[in-house]
Amino acid sequence: MVTELAKGVYWVGVVDWGLRLFHGHELSTHRGSSYNAYLIVDDKIALVDTVWEPFAEELLANIRQVIDPARIDYIIANHSEVDHSGALPMILRHCPNATVYCSKRGLDSFRGHYHADWKLQAVSTGQRLPLSFTAEGGCATKTTAEGGSATNAGGRGGRELVFIEAPMLHWPDSMFTYLTGDNILMPNDAFGQHYATGFRFNDQVDEAQLQQEALKYYVNILTPYSEQVIKKIDEVLALNLPVSMIAPSHGVIWRKDPLQIVHAYRRWAQQQPEASAVILYDTMWQATRKMAEAIADGLAESGVPHQLHHVAVTDRNDVLVDVFKSKAVIIGSPTLNRGLLPSIAPLLEDLRGLRFKNKIGAAFGSYGWAAEGVKSIEEHFAKCGIPLAAPGVGAKWQPGPEDLEKCRQLGRTVAAAVKNKA
Ligand code: FEO
Repeated sequence: MVTELAKGVYWVGVVDWGLRLFHGHELSTHRGSSYNAYLIVDDKIALVDTVWEPFAEELLANIRQVIDPARIDYIIANHSEVDHSGALPMILRHCPNATVYCSKRGLDSFRGHYHADWKLQAVSTGQRLPLSFTAEGGCATKTTAEGGSATNAGGRGGRELVFIEAPMLHWPDSMFTYLTGDNILMPNDAFGQHYATGFRFNDQVDEAQLQQEALKYYVNILTPYSEQVIKKIDEVLALNLPVSMIAPSHGVIWRKDPLQIVHAYRRWAQQQPEASAVILYDTMWQATRKMAEAIADGLAESGVPHQLHHVAVTDRNDVLVDVFKSKAVIIGSPTLNRGLLPSIAPLLEDLRGLRFKNKIGAAFGSYGWAAEGVKSIEEHFAKCGIPLAAPGVGAKWQPGPEDLEKCRQLGRTVAAAVKNKA
């Protein structure tokens, strides 16, 4: 359902209620998602972002509820990833006069994705694109808006789009677009959530669900770029732009206290974890599970909050949220084929790729005739720049009482390190 956000500014995106996996099979989306596109009808008509290709017809139908797509003058393509650009080829066939605006880095990624001879116009930070005719000339030499019908909002006193390049939030081509007059920031992926809802605004949905999805999105997509996030946020806040809404390309629009998500991002980007621990393990015949639970007992004795995940049967992206939050990451696997159980490998890859900061680590696991698992995990911590809170604990075959006491002691030692370094 098309929603008018401000006079002449329409949400024309689509809600993907059934989406459960995103980025292929990489990211779980338990609550679906949306692909947000915004149509601004003024003397000039601009479409900000499109949607994933399977929903192109829905986008087109939404636009048609407001105007004839052939009237679109500008398409702002903030980011070339296909969930926002997939509908572009079809939309462009209906907008013969439209110029596509993207960041300079977008020239490469749009051409690389589509190999098409589009009218791409690169813009850089601070460049403005007038939408209203003004007495001074503005985007044209006319003084008033033409028309005034239901499909034309009329001039809004010099509304402009202002572009802000945002490289690595989260691709090199990422860009924010700001609408003056209505003070709407459209930052594409930044500040988004994979959250399907029939509502459009943050003040209409469950607060806890929204915060959970916003954090999961940050952890899984933006963590490696946290330094760029801080710099970009500081740069944007220094502009002192009035912001009435932050309208990302996924999920709901931040209308109530819109800057709350900006401040949350700045806080998350600092990567200052809680004084807590997360235990991640897999197990073959319950030996490593018993060790994991004994470590949890040691943490509990010491009063340190902790989560314990059997990773083979737990959603990886949810686990990563607990990794992000926790100071200590304790990983366990039995030795298999002189290495680890394969279910552990994706988390180790995420530990490397997401570049978590300010962590401490510890390893544990059972073995039979080759005690290689603990060593392998500890070597991986070293590669990730995560110092060990204590030497790892191995147990030959099934853990006996002494082994389990060593695990409880590992929990206590990690707890002490968490308290000291938190
Ligand atoms: Fe929502 Fe980077 O695409």
